[in-house]
Amino acid sequence: MDDTFVRELEIDHVDKTTTLRFRQKLEGDVNCVVWDGAIVLAKYLERQCLKNSGFLENRSVIELGSGVGCVGIVAACLGANVLLTDLPQALPLLRQNVEENKSKLKGCVEIEALDWGSPCKINCTPDVILLAECIYYKEVVGSLVSTLRQLATEKTNIILCQELRDSQKQRECWKEFLENVKESFEVSFIPQTEQSLVYSSPEILILRLTKK
Ligand SMILES: C[S@@+](CC[C@H](N)C(=O)[O-])C[C@H]1O[C@@H](n2cnc3c(N)ncnc32)[C@H](O)[C@@H]1O
Repeated sequence: MDDTFVRELEIDHVDKTTTLRFRQKLEGDVNCVVWDGAIVLAKYLERQCLKNSGFLENRSVIELGSGVGCVGIVAACLGANVLLTDLPQALPLLRQNVEENKSKLKGCVEIEALDWGSPCKINCTPDVILLAECIYYKEVVGSLVSTLRQLATEKTNIILCQELRDSQKQRECWKEFLENVKESFEVSFIPQTEQSLVYSSPEILILRLTKK
């Protein structure tokens, strides 16, 4: 029996609309569904590309903690060359989603296992690093920031989206992340007025980080 279901997402370009399809699992780990932060970030990227078609066109992008791949696949649909990464156990569903959307992607997509904090084999220099909903357990905050430090150059734009949930655990995790990341990166918050008019929320933050 097929244990998956599909979430569709329409992406507008200057001259057309593309419908992407993301296969999710009925039961499974956090990497089996599209999170709200992924939709908010994907729609922010769409809006930036509608304003400036060169925003992602031919850019080299790495996505961390891709899950089912929504953010990175949208970036490839908008013209970026994307490396999707996650833990090894997340990769089969991620591959299935890349395959499912392949004909609609303008840029190239590759997939690689990457466990934050472990030595990183990736040797491309990303113009952009994207991550959605990756700051949710304290144990990995240090490793995640260390991976961002390894991958980013002074020219890399890191665009991160995170929903702030009303739990003590998540608030502490977010505070620790901000304190840690501010040691090596300039951090700015992207105002909601610059985000999608429909897919945005005061509880879902988009941040831009650049290496000091
Ligand atoms: C809450 S999910 C978000 C998934 C996706 N970005 C989205 O927003 O739909 C967090 C993702 O981070 C990945 N992740 C968690 N710990 C990780 C680690 N140590 N290294 C790499 N990825 C990790 C999970 O496998 C999962 O795909």
